[in-house]
Amino acid sequence: MTSAESNHHDFVPAMAEIAREAGALLMGYFRQHVKIEYKGEADLVTVADRASEKLIRERIGALWPGHDILGEEEGLVDTGSDYRWYVDPLDGTTNFAHGFPVFCVSMALEHKGRRIAGVVYDPTRQEMFAAEQGSGAYLNQEPIRVSSTGKLAEGLVATGFPSHKRHKNPNIYFYHQITLRTHGVRRAGSAALDLCYVASGRLDGFWEFNLNPWDTAAGVLLVEEAGGRVTDFQGGAFQINSRETLASNRRLHEALLHEFQEIFAGRGLEPMADPRERDR
Ligand code: IPD
Ligand code: CA
Ligand code: CA
Repeated sequence: MTSAESNHHDFVPAMAEIAREAGALLMGYFRQHVKIEYKGEADLVTVADRASEKLIRERIGALWPGHDILGEEEGLVDTGSDYRWYVDPLDGTTNFAHGFPVFCVSMALEHKGRRIAGVVYDPTRQEMFAAEQGSGAYLNQEPIRVSSTGKLAEGLVATGFPSHKRHKNPNIYFYHQITLRTHGVRRAGSAALDLCYVASGRLDGFWEFNLNPWDTAAGVLLVEEAGGRVTDFQGGAFQINSRETLASNRRLHEALLHEFQEIFAGRGLEPMADPRERDR
């Protein structure tokens, strides 16, 4: 065991340094307007995604040789280590490729199946979200907390839509219904940042179907360390391979779970409005 591993508190500063370096690399490509390639119909990838992951893997490998790494672009290196990294080298690729400045680098570290550290870096705003298990959550080294909003009708929440199997995703119905029951639903295009915005009180809740571990690992730790709650859509414990992610400031969690059960059961749904009624 290296000295860094003997104390989990030593991971975050080095992780933040790597994320900042990867973020600077992304900004270099962002200014050049890189070419879009396709992994699927609407599943985009760019040279920046790949270069960022390469850099992050090199830095992790140099500092912590032998750790397992799961990254979106290069997949899993599994040596049976107790430590596993989850790396999204560019979360928000569609935004990035269109010049829409909402994207980030997300890195999390798990030890024996427990998330112990996570950082999410937004290089467009130079915002570093970081958390360590049991030590709270931070934005640029200042402590952050989830919001205190207690009524769903007064909440601002967010969601996202995956880029593959879009026609099989029921989320547009949830988007519609939750929009009618809150101050609004944002769809900014980076799940990792959405989770950090719940952690920092900018949002009161977030949900999405079919996210991957590299999207959620760091952000979920941020929300939990900031006093929030993350479950599946039935209220069960969030699992890293879960296809359902529901995060909130804790106070709104039961209300959101209730709305989800109603929508799944097809109860209380507002029908589509008649456009001719719009201005009456
Ligand atoms: C995507 C973003 C987006 C979410 C998608 C993810 P990517 O990640 O997080 O907000 O709605 O489900 O796939 O592909 O930009 O890393
Ligand atoms: Ca992602
Ligand atoms: Ca990505």
